[in-house]
Amino acid sequence: MKKILSALTIFGLVFTMTFLSSCEKAYLVPEEQVIENVSFSSEVQPFFDAKCIECHNGSGIPLNLTSPGSYDAIISGDYVDTENPADSKLYLKIMPGESMSDYASPSERELTLAWITEGANNN
Ligand code: HEC
Repeated sequence: MKKILSALTIFGLVFTMTFLSSCEKAYLVPEEQVIENVSFSSEVQPFFDAKCIECHNGSGIPLNLTSPGSYDAIISGDYVDTENPADSKLYLKIMPGESMSDYASPSERELTLAWITEGANNN
């Protein structure tokens, strides 16, 4: 009887732990959102408008991100690397620990990377 009880206890513990940890996972890790078919004009530029052009507006700070010249400025200044999207200066600068990180949220970083990965289109 004792053996059965302890076996049941162990089973119960393992079950509870598995159950709890799977719950915790589902709770802590948000569902991955796939960002695709990014539009420069309707998604990326509005992000620049909201978070960047207060400074990046041609008044001395490098890289003017105001519309309509922003796209050409990014391309001609070599700020995106479509071969190695994660190495793009535009993306690296907004990553945690870099000087522009405060101005971009995680989803805005994802948006930027997705836009570059899709070919940095002027769409
Ligand atoms: C409060 C002002 C300010 C805001 C807002 C700002 N920046 Fe900057 N940014 C600067 C300054 C100043 C520099 C130059 C110093 C440096 O590189 O950190 C700079 C540099 C950069 C550079 C490097 C330019 C180069 O040629 O070296 C990039 C890329 C950049 N910013 C992107 C962004 C993006 C994208 C945003 C919006 C998410 C943003 N910045 C928001 C002030 C700002």
